[in-house]
Amino acid sequence: MDKIVSLCKRRGFIFPSSGIYGGLEAFWDYGPLGSLLKNNIKQEWFKTFVQSWEDIVLIDGTVIMHPKTWEASGHLKNFIDPLVECKKCHSRFREDRLERKICPQCGGDDFTQAKQFNLMFKTYLGPVEDEVHLAYLRPETAQSMFVDFKLIQESLRLKLPFGIAQVGRSFRNEITTGNFTFRSREFDIAEIEYFVKPGEDEKAFKEWLDAWEKFFLDLGLKKENLRRYEHKKESLAHYSKRTVDIEYKFPFGWAELAGIANRTDFDLSQHAKFSGKDLNYFDEETKKNYFPYVIEPTLGIERLALALLVESFSEVKGGRTTTTEATKEAEIVLRLNKKVAPIKAAILPLVKNKPGLVKKAREVYQMLKPYFMVQYDEVGSIGRRYRRQDEIGTPFCITVDFETLKKDDVTLRDRDTMKQNRIKIADLVKSLSEKLNV
Ligand code: GAP
Repeated sequence: MDKIVSLCKRRGFIFPSSGIYGGLEAFWDYGPLGSLLKNNIKQEWFKTFVQSWEDIVLIDGTVIMHPKTWEASGHLKNFIDPLVECKKCHSRFREDRLERKICPQCGGDDFTQAKQFNLMFKTYLGPVEDEVHLAYLRPETAQSMFVDFKLIQESLRLKLPFGIAQVGRSFRNEITTGNFTFRSREFDIAEIEYFVKPGEDEKAFKEWLDAWEKFFLDLGLKKENLRRYEHKKESLAHYSKRTVDIEYKFPFGWAELAGIANRTDFDLSQHAKFSGKDLNYFDEETKKNYFPYVIEPTLGIERLALALLVESFSEVKGGRTTTTEATKEAEIVLRLNKKVAPIKAAILPLVKNKPGLVKKAREVYQMLKPYFMVQYDEVGSIGRRYRRQDEIGTPFCITVDFETLKKDDVTLRDRDTMKQNRIKIADLVKSLSEKLNV
């Protein structure tokens, strides 16, 4: 894990927010490569579940919603963790996460009684900071999909089953943080509320579980590093009839990557009750009104980004470079799935002191730029540049050499096999599109 954290900082994937002020616990900035990785994950989620699915629509709701939302959803009452304080050093902990009844900070063994601590961040709307103007930053994206349900269903004339999808910022004032980005206080959730007829929920749950798991496998997580965890009745969230977590084997142990919950008609019926609005669905076949049931596949984007980094990280002892500059140090190769790799190809002139090569390489770079996220690099030896690209998971390196000037072709190097093939510049866009499957 330390090696991944260090690579992430060194290469501009992920680093502490507000670093020059000492950082801010559990807040992380995603740099040029990390933000591309996250964007690509969101894009794959969108392509798989919105674009390719016939009956799922995307929305973009606000982070701050009417405070009644959280009363109705049960978050004000139930989105809580038990908080205890060490009487000796006054450090605070989540009681259920303390391994022993001994303070991890000072070794003290006397704690206060557990207090119920609500994880929602608070803020005030407008200049007056009082109860009336109190509002919350959303801890999940789900609620706007319930609150807007009727409007979306009617405006698009959607018929059951159908889904509403959303990906966006969520905030949780976590008491216990740690394990790098795994437990952040600000993060992106991608979730789908899939509405079905009551009675069809259990079948839909099973189908979603398979589809959800396939998504992670397709992105390159290994089967043996994924497992399902069925929540026991007593650990179910207040809205859920059944929840299965998809866990990933992180370096710090098995932990939740994503989940699927059967939220029944809990949320719609609660919002109907609290708003006084009719949120029923009118079934044209049966001519009956009812609240649909909801299956919710949910995913933390940062957790998937972390799992993909863990899965793809490899070190080759003694080096893998075939040039004369082969080093004895271990070389890092990030074998990221091509779909999520931040940079798809790097364009490298063999040397930088030959203007003809540099000019040609820049032409190739400009030609590819509208189609793919590509990078131009002329600094250092060619072997070193290959290593730099391997380290950030770039699937292809395109080298412009002296042959290029004669034949208008380049070498295309594959990150994983290190094989190099010559290819005509005119065929590059087509060939890369096929190889990258875009
Ligand atoms: N709407 C359902 C819901 O919010 P959840 O299991 O509480 O369910 C959804 O959260 C997903 O968000 C989790 O599966 C996890 O991937 C991610 N997640 C939860 N808390 C997180 C945190 N503190 N930091 C990063 N990701 C988190």
